[in-house]
Amino acid sequence: MKVMVVGGGGREHALAWKLAQSPQVTKVFCVPGNGGTATLPKAVNMPMLPVDVEGITRFALVQGVGLVVIGPETPLALGMADQMRAQGLRVLGPGQAGAQLEASKVWAKAFMQAEGIPTAPAQVFRELAPAQSYIEQQPLPVVVKVDGLAAGKGVTVAQTHAEAIQAVQAALTGQFGQAGQQVLVETFLTGEELSLLALTDGETLYPLLPAQDYKRLGAGDTGPNTGGMGACAPVPWVTEELLQRVEREIFTPLLAGLKRRGIDYRGVIYAGLMVTPQGDPLVVEFNCRFGDPETQVILPLLDSCLLELALACAEGRLGEVPPPVWRPGYAATVVMASGGYPGEWVKGYPVRGLDLAEATGALVFHGGTRRERNQTFTDGGRVLNITGYGATLDEALEQSYLGVKQVDFTDCYYREDIGWRLKNRQE
Ligand code: AMP
Ligand code: GLY
Repeated sequence: MKVMVVGGGGREHALAWKLAQSPQVTKVFCVPGNGGTATLPKAVNMPMLPVDVEGITRFALVQGVGLVVIGPETPLALGMADQMRAQGLRVLGPGQAGAQLEASKVWAKAFMQAEGIPTAPAQVFRELAPAQSYIEQQPLPVVVKVDGLAAGKGVTVAQTHAEAIQAVQAALTGQFGQAGQQVLVETFLTGEELSLLALTDGETLYPLLPAQDYKRLGAGDTGPNTGGMGACAPVPWVTEELLQRVEREIFTPLLAGLKRRGIDYRGVIYAGLMVTPQGDPLVVEFNCRFGDPETQVILPLLDSCLLELALACAEGRLGEVPPPVWRPGYAATVVMASGGYPGEWVKGYPVRGLDLAEATGALVFHGGTRRERNQTFTDGGRVLNITGYGATLDEALEQSYLGVKQVDFTDCYYREDIGWRLKNRQE
């Protein structure tokens, strides 16, 4: 079977790598892929933009692709999965209606409120004056979120009322285009963040291993938000009881709510959770796709065949295949980024030491890289993800950092403290 992975980040390299392990898979089209998928056995890069819904659909049809996995949120929000399904393709990824869970925070909040899914209280605003008077009555910090997709830049955790009002004003005056025409002003939640992803065909839901990502740029979770600077899985403090509560209080009403709205959801649902000091899980956000870099630690721990699970999900018969089986132990990934990320960065630097990193046993998942004349060059903000595996979290982190130390490119930046939250808790 030929399969296709839409997207070109570390998540998509990990998806292509795992799919290629299935003996049934003969070819993996990576659209557009990156410098890592360029040398992955069975994989072929296709230089098309992930937003080219028509072009990619046509290509998949002409090639007789048996399964399409859509990585990023933008093509999902554009309705790529609907277009492909209408042409008879099998797709892992929700249609446009389901993708609203991520693409519209206002829609998602109303959905959660209607279905009784625990989340932070919030109010929607389309004008500055009412937002201002509301904000002035809120305790600090207070959270402002633009409604639409904003590449991870749409959330402000404001420490003062003035900062919150400024964030609302920036959004309503067009800083985020359409995405900022509505804003949510939300109560700040405290606790530990947790990423809980699940595969679902709308009937059956199989949770994946709980993961924790490290979103901030700086050590100790300081500095600006990024797409994610590292991740670990599974999360040692997550108990069976907590997982059961998430299923009962979040995933079950989520599926019921999708059904009630006539939304056929086949893909990954990613619950970004805050577990309060009292141990209650609340939804910070839903994403309609695999996480990046969570996928780079979840898939290396997956013992089951991803193709089998993904096909069953795409065909609406997930309940007919066994739930995912996991390797014991832990995985950790460290993101190596271009200096200046998430702000301005320079690309096109040669990347050295990739062979040495792989020789340590670590897995090297490429993000923003490009392969040219048998050489790998930096080509984005988040360049590489180096994933280590071990019987303990410490061993996994050790292998990851050993791999990181073999690699070098100009102005390379990475966090030295991935995993610190989990290590602190273990001690
Ligand atoms: P989001 O894009 O919704 O994931 O938000 C980005 C980050 O902002 C989250 O990962 C949290 O760290 C933080 N955040 C968002 N909403 C809240 C909230 N209500 N309380 C505390 N932190 C939040
Ligand atoms: N790691 C956060 C995300 O994928 O949205």
